[in-house]
Amino acid sequence: MKGLGSLAILASYAWLLVSGQTDVCRVRDRTFSTEPMPGGSHQPADKMNPVSGAVSTRFYVTVVNLTPHRIRLENTHSYQMDIFDFGDVPQGRARQNRVKYRGTWATGDDAGEAYYRIDGTDKTFALRLKSYIPNSAPRRVVLDLSGMGLGQREYVFPGAETSVSLVITGSNRFGFQASLRHGPGNWMRRMYNVIRDRKVRHLVMPGTHDSGMSRITDKITSIGSETNTQNQGINIYDQLRAGSRWFDLRIGSIHPNDNAGRYNGFWVLHVNDELATLAIGNSGESLDDVISEVNRFTSENPGEIIFFSIRYLVGRYEFPDRGPIMWNTAMVNDFFSKLRAINNRCLNLDTSTGFENQKASYFMDQNEGKGCVILLLNGQLPGDVPKESFGDGIYHIRRIGIQDHWSNKQTADAMAPDQIAKWRSFNRGGGSDYGNLHIAQWLVTPDAVASTVLSLQAYAIQPTNPSLYWAGVNGMDPEHWPNVLMVDYIGVQQRDQWGWDQLSAELYTLAVGLNLYMVSENCDVHGKKSPLLRSRGMGTEEDQQRLETSWNGIIFANGTTINNPPPTLHLGRVEILRNGTVLGNGTVLETSIPNPWF
Ligand SMILES: *[C@@H]1O[C@H](CO)[C@@H](O)[C@H](O)[C@H]1NC(C)=O
Ligand SMILES: *[C@@H]1O[C@H](CO)[C@@H](O)[C@H](O)[C@H]1NC(C)=O
Ligand SMILES: *[C@@H]1O[C@H](CO)[C@@H](O)[C@H](O)[C@H]1NC(C)=O
Repeated sequence: MKGLGSLAILASYAWLLVSGQTDVCRVRDRTFSTEPMPGGSHQPADKMNPVSGAVSTRFYVTVVNLTPHRIRLENTHSYQMDIFDFGDVPQGRARQNRVKYRGTWATGDDAGEAYYRIDGTDKTFALRLKSYIPNSAPRRVVLDLSGMGLGQREYVFPGAETSVSLVITGSNRFGFQASLRHGPGNWMRRMYNVIRDRKVRHLVMPGTHDSGMSRITDKITSIGSETNTQNQGINIYDQLRAGSRWFDLRIGSIHPNDNAGRYNGFWVLHVNDELATLAIGNSGESLDDVISEVNRFTSENPGEIIFFSIRYLVGRYEFPDRGPIMWNTAMVNDFFSKLRAINNRCLNLDTSTGFENQKASYFMDQNEGKGCVILLLNGQLPGDVPKESFGDGIYHIRRIGIQDHWSNKQTADAMAPDQIAKWRSFNRGGGSDYGNLHIAQWLVTPDAVASTVLSLQAYAIQPTNPSLYWAGVNGMDPEHWPNVLMVDYIGVQQRDQWGWDQLSAELYTLAVGLNLYMVSENCDVHGKKSPLLRSRGMGTEEDQQRLETSWNGIIFANGTTINNPPPTLHLGRVEILRNGTVLGNGTVLETSIPNPWF
């Protein structure tokens, strides 16, 4: 009898193995590294000035590793550089690598390369620094991931002493993805099996600040201009494709100066204070355009969860100097009937549970799997008008528990530690699991003079967004991360380069990687084995969701793309290492030699 008993135990153990029941998250499988990383540098305020910035010789290349493999530096060489400081990037960490060119911009014969390997795999990549003299965009870096089947891209540094960032996620089993270009629009649906059982407050998603301010439309007569009032370079359709799932939409009605009872449509607004006697700012997209952009995206990419936090909800005169026009019930009803044109709204959701506590699948499965566009009213509606309509899929913001953290700082070096301290002040998972959806506003609020002179775009793409990838990422670990990473100028890497093919996918790839890698390493949040650690064939569903690695083309600094380059074409590659070249081990060449790593 005793023997039979142990046989039964053995049999059930074998069954557990076969049925995949041992496919659980185990703390001892965690790969996240706690190795200290060198600190980084935010762009100094004076370097935004193009005159002082033009002579700057310091630049940074940030590498973010959201894979379970160490990213190992194999070799470097540099010529005409005083600093060429590259290093390993452990799992879950980011390294801001430093470069300082020697002398001024006179030589143009400087060059440096850093060669990396994804540890334990056959995947390699190279980072190449080079200046082009004379040229209107002389300071460039090439991210050459052709050795991973992920293409090459040449970037121009967005300003003096700024960083270009490379985000890599995936694993050797799962496939890799990098930030050189955007992946498919439906990033949530593609990782349905990874996120379906996670609560909404256990997801990480990009968000956009003043989302509808992708152009200036002058529907109110005020001093708001592109430099001080426009917060995005791409419209809401492209923001969705760039990964954004949380939108800060501020809507007002515009009324003729002599008639508060009439109005000329609903418009996105960005003003200093929507209730002020004199509102200073301007208008952006029309609500009609926003609606058609969302509908275009969801028809092409069904199955996502998309939140619109809709603020303001007041009227303003065309000359906005006589205070707000509070909406009456008729105005609210007009507004609701407009919102009914949005497809994939989710009607009659369960409001007995906060939306933040519902599983992702609760929303992704709605509308026969077409997902949800969730409208959350967060405006200035007076006491006696409707504030939600469950049957229309319109909800009050209090249906979701959020903590929206705005630093209100003028510079990135003041904003970044404040944002990081906030999301580190609570834990994810386990007994003390934080209960709200945390919105991290990774953006700066320069005063009117500074933003008019230097532009909100320059603030976003030079000091602010690049610092997310070293300071922000190194402030995260499997127990500490925000849910919404809200930014200005999502996807924009290069000033005024707003065409879809000119964008860059750092935030998209960061969000995918934080969900796939970082959150999956927290066993209190993700009970199953990390998708990046599962063996191939463990579940065919996961295999279908493997990251695509089918593009190995080149994107040049000027935006030109070649999809099938000759295999020998590697931008910026150095064939001869000149006399004076410094190797990674400190050796200085005394004669010119062919590049042994060419
Ligand atoms: C862009 O750059 C590439 C490589 O330098 C060049 O071949 C191409 O002609 C350029 N395209 C334009 C439109 O300038
Ligand atoms: C430095 O690296 C070069 C190239 O790999 C090698 O030839 C040389 O011996 C190394 N020098 C030292 C001191 O290790
Ligand atoms: C290499 O450079 C050094 C210093 O500039 C110089 O003294 C030396 O003659 C050079 N060697 C060759 C082979 O060019």
